[in-house]
Amino acid sequence: DKGIYPYYMLKEIEEQPNVIRTILGHYMDEQGHVNIDSEIIDTLKNADRIYIVAAGTSYHASLLGKRMFERLVGKATQVEISSEFAYDNFIPEANPVFVFLSQSGETADSREVLQVANDRGFKSLTLTNVPNSTLAREATFSLPLLAGPEIAVASTKAYTAQVSVLSIIAQAMADNKFSVSHPLANIAIAMDAIVQDKEKYEKLANDYLVDAHDAFYIGRLNDAELALEAALKLKEISYVHTEGFAAGELKHGTLALIEENTPVMALLTQSATANLTRSNLAETQARGAHTMVIATKENAKEGDEVILPSVDSAEDDPAVVQQLAILLATVPVQLLSYYTSLGRGLDVDRPRNLAKSVTVQ
Ligand code: M6R
Repeated sequence: DKGIYPYYMLKEIEEQPNVIRTILGHYMDEQGHVNIDSEIIDTLKNADRIYIVAAGTSYHASLLGKRMFERLVGKATQVEISSEFAYDNFIPEANPVFVFLSQSGETADSREVLQVANDRGFKSLTLTNVPNSTLAREATFSLPLLAGPEIAVASTKAYTAQVSVLSIIAQAMADNKFSVSHPLANIAIAMDAIVQDKEKYEKLANDYLVDAHDAFYIGRLNDAELALEAALKLKEISYVHTEGFAAGELKHGTLALIEENTPVMALLTQSATANLTRSNLAETQARGAHTMVIATKENAKEGDEVILPSVDSAEDDPAVVQQLAILLATVPVQLLSYYTSLGRGLDVDRPRNLAKSVTVQ
């Protein structure tokens, strides 16, 4: 039931801080240690390589999972688009583990890969929002995402849940050497503030996107990954043609598409690369782009359109905080899509040509 909300998507965006809190309550004990079956964690730790397999938004969350597994745990991880991987010439290590990331647990492309993994006797773990789904039942292990039912076709809270659960798995694989619980709890508080400020995003959507034909999101590292998700979110419900880019790639071709007033949104949560992305944004501005900056407090400059609320991270491992900061920028890009779709008079929850669960290959 949507209750007071005009669309499920807005309700589901607003639920995200509580989804994080539910996940923390379920997966962490009082001491901040991870509460996941040690057989699952040992299987992941002992793998030569982890393959995360997914589609769409879940694929974008997987890209962030790879960074966390590699940067925080040092575990070699590869992300694969399920519809490609099932038909690729896969040369496995001796002991791979397959992680399936899927809101519905029914995506046919991912099921096809699980079938291949099962036929070859490889172990697998499904992370899904639907615990009795096919991918959950047919994998060696499964863990719930705990986002609650997601009704809108555009996935929002499942993405946040996927990134959060992957970060907790990373913590467990690192033997609780760092903590994600404190940064995640702080991010939930900051998300509350972003949601409360939602009118800001309605104004920005009207100003930048409602009348646009093309739009671009750019960023580097985790911000490049979110740029892909932000672009998918905007195009699927507003029908504005949108591309997400690693900011450095623009000048290798796509810069040719920038015209007077083309909206270009830069995501700046990664301190190592924020200034470089800013220079890339300036290059688009010089060609007439209507530029917007979405930045964390540490990477913001006066005049930036969106400065994300700061999180108190003094006690936390800076590498962990950098990985999770992406969740802060996630809510603004979801709200920009929502209000663009609304401003264009579209059915936000049920975009044309799309189904919530894609059960055909
Ligand atoms: O249920 P799944 O997570 O396996 O679904 C994968 C994609 O179909 C899904 O994420 C899709 O891209 C979203 N509806 C986009 O918002």
